[in-house]
Amino acid sequence: MVDVILGLQWGDEGKGKIADFLTPQYHVVARFQGGPNAGHSLEFEGKKFVLNTIPSGIFRQDTLNLIGNGVVIDPVRLQQEIGRISDECPNYKERLLISKKAHLILPTHRILDAASEASKGVGKIGSTLRGIGPTYRDKVGRSGLRVGDILHSDFASIYRQATAAHLRLIEHYGYTDFDLKAEEIAFFEAVEFLKGHQLINSEYFINDCIAQGKKILAEGAQGSMLDIEFGTYPFVTSSTTLSGGVCSGLGIAPKHIGKVYGIFKAYCTRVGSGPFPTELFDQTGEDLRRIGHEYGATTGRERRCGWLDLVALKYACMLNGVDELIMMKGDVLNGMDNISAATAYQYEGAEHKQVPSNMVNTPVEPVYSQHKGWSKDIDLIKGYDAMDQEFRDYIEYIEQYIGHRISVISMGPEREKTLQR
Ligand code: GDP
Ligand code: IMO
Ligand code: MG
Repeated sequence: MVDVILGLQWGDEGKGKIADFLTPQYHVVARFQGGPNAGHSLEFEGKKFVLNTIPSGIFRQDTLNLIGNGVVIDPVRLQQEIGRISDECPNYKERLLISKKAHLILPTHRILDAASEASKGVGKIGSTLRGIGPTYRDKVGRSGLRVGDILHSDFASIYRQATAAHLRLIEHYGYTDFDLKAEEIAFFEAVEFLKGHQLINSEYFINDCIAQGKKILAEGAQGSMLDIEFGTYPFVTSSTTLSGGVCSGLGIAPKHIGKVYGIFKAYCTRVGSGPFPTELFDQTGEDLRRIGHEYGATTGRERRCGWLDLVALKYACMLNGVDELIMMKGDVLNGMDNISAATAYQYEGAEHKQVPSNMVNTPVEPVYSQHKGWSKDIDLIKGYDAMDQEFRDYIEYIEQYIGHRISVISMGPEREKTLQR
């Protein structure tokens, strides 16, 4: 069976922490989409790690970790990432499997990402500049390179052919702010490094695991509101971030999908451009950023902050078929007098509970419910039933609105600051 955990908002919900927390229940943790645009933070034993491409099960000794075919891999970034974890996981190679069908992010994809963003001016997506969009564009355009290609004796000329087209496009953009020679040296070095890893036909591997009754956790990246189909298009990423993406991103049939865990923060954040109905531009927004340390794990950019958006959250739960909710960062709201949550949107002269098809052309005004805050020093030690009434009221209001139970509550970045109800 393949259970899924994924983000229900605009990313950075705390997927890394929860994947690591749940890992002991699974034999395999698998990433199925996205790439090094992701930054998943894990904290344990006083140490902190940020993973970009490697699944969050890597720090647990009994777990295999698969980078699936739906992921896009930058060999240079992956090599750096492995460098950051190899002291903690000296035997990581035995537990890290990489799909031969995963597409490669080439240096020219990164340059194209930068050139495309520069050409958009104020209308830019606010991409992480990791080359994600151009790599997925080549994948669906049937001109991408894949991990398996690096094993080809003529890889260098396959690479040259692919990048020649990119260079023509970069010239067309008039973009010159790059040093391709230096980037290519690092790329070919990283490709050699990558060859020393377990490059596999991962669709056979994962289906064999299923046949043997092994438990698999599919770890999403980004968030549902960044999904290419249903997110706030065009301010989205270039992959299917929803549970539906697990099947194509790993090569498994829908009947093998088990539980879907949806992760959300007790408030909302977004990094990059695009619609964000509940965004706060006042002191409360700044307080959320400061207390929640809302700065990008990958890019260090300031995250935009705002109240919880239940309209968008319910939409995401519907799209993913969420079974259970996981609420993160409740502690960031500790000690606040009042808390708001959007329960409807005002647009086209009426109140709606549906997300409009185009939030860019249809700006929405949130309608809020008001909630009394809880104490400053609330913690998990005594268990849920002993927690402040106001906190439990907030939790139960969300459960009622969404129609699903919040089964895990996180009140701090560390593994132990997690309550399973
Ligand atoms: P991901 O991309 O979904 O894995 O999330 P990120 O790692 O980008 O961002 C989540 C941030 O919140 C990280 O810095 C985590 O260490 C931190 N974090 C996770 N859970 C909690 C929590 O319950 N409370 C607080 N205060 N921080 C948390
Ligand atoms: P994790 O997995 C938050 C955002 C970017 C930008 C848009 C497109 O850590 O939650 P891209 O580089 O994918 O072309 O950027 O998506 N974005 C994320 N925001 N968390 C992420 O990943 C993100 N990955 C991409 O900021 O707005
Ligand atoms: Mg992140």
